[in-house]
Amino acid sequence: MTTSLNQHLWLGLSRVLRSHWLHPLNDADAWERLRVWMNPMWSRRDYPARVLDIIDETPDTRSFVLKPTARWPGHRAGQHVVVQVEINGRRVHRSFSLSSAPTPDRRLRITVKRQPGARVSGWLHEHVRIGDVLRLSAPTGRFAPAEGAAPLLLLSAGSGITPLMAVVEELHRRGDPRAIVFVHCCRTPTDFIFADRLRVLAAEWPNFELRVHYSASAGRFDVRQLSVLLHCQTLVCGPRALTQNVETLFLAAGVKDQVRSESYSGRVLPQGDATQESFGVHCSDTEQVFTARGDTSLLEAAEAAGLKPAHGCRIGICKTCQCTKRSGTALNLRTGEISSEPNELIQLCISVARSPLELAL
Ligand code: FES
Repeated sequence: MTTSLNQHLWLGLSRVLRSHWLHPLNDADAWERLRVWMNPMWSRRDYPARVLDIIDETPDTRSFVLKPTARWPGHRAGQHVVVQVEINGRRVHRSFSLSSAPTPDRRLRITVKRQPGARVSGWLHEHVRIGDVLRLSAPTGRFAPAEGAAPLLLLSAGSGITPLMAVVEELHRRGDPRAIVFVHCCRTPTDFIFADRLRVLAAEWPNFELRVHYSASAGRFDVRQLSVLLHCQTLVCGPRALTQNVETLFLAAGVKDQVRSESYSGRVLPQGDATQESFGVHCSDTEQVFTARGDTSLLEAAEAAGLKPAHGCRIGICKTCQCTKRSGTALNLRTGEISSEPNELIQLCISVARSPLELAL
């Protein structure tokens, strides 16, 4: 009897607390907006971080040294974060690798190459100043070498060097005894991100060897040059064509398990495939509806419509955004696969609509 009375009282109280009469006192979103308006470092939804320094690494690549608040959960070398910025009143998210290893002073570094036509990298270069606050997600990803005695091969191209720089710093910090060969490909010496730091490491660290391939003078990097390094545990980060070629090389040698790869470019839509046609998307769990253009990821389209689907990396790695597509056709931008069967799993961050869709959201 007493238990059921307590339950009734509790139910009644929670209804009162949720009632619209108490708005905005009972609205967590309103409190968050107020906190951020008073001081962006007070956000409790994401992880704000103050910009302490900005370093020009190359003519088109810039590092941002950040100091997050005490809530920052810490990161491991090789992980990435999603940076959230507001451009022309629209919230936009992009994933960037952390290019620094964890340090006792809990500073972080993201290194951003300005890509032609890319909104977020261009905006960060043009608008972010020392003292500004960036909003980060929790770090995610597991791009790191396994423990063991086998020598390490680290291979990167262009801005693919960023997570590997964090890995190198971490290996150096803990005095890893393994032999490490770091091969980096870029166009010219001017495009070599972290050149000075890596050269210093190579000079002072006997088990670290640095090799740089300049494609403007030496031509495209041929992964067959790595044939003598197939015994190494390998991390590769760069354009998809490079990671695929390396995987194929190690597969042919029967040692595919020794490779871990991350690519920073999804599949580029062929001309004519990048449709701007819009399709209706019905979320069957919540009965919400939104419109998705054929050249915008379903995650971005859902967010633009005010929905908040779960997500993490936003580049097709963590699968947090995966959901069941009940009907319709979607294209996976990373693999180029078309999903047209009912009840297939799709990742919202790397999928675009190719017909009206029904999603279990
Ligand atoms: S958000 Fe990580 S896979 Fe989509």
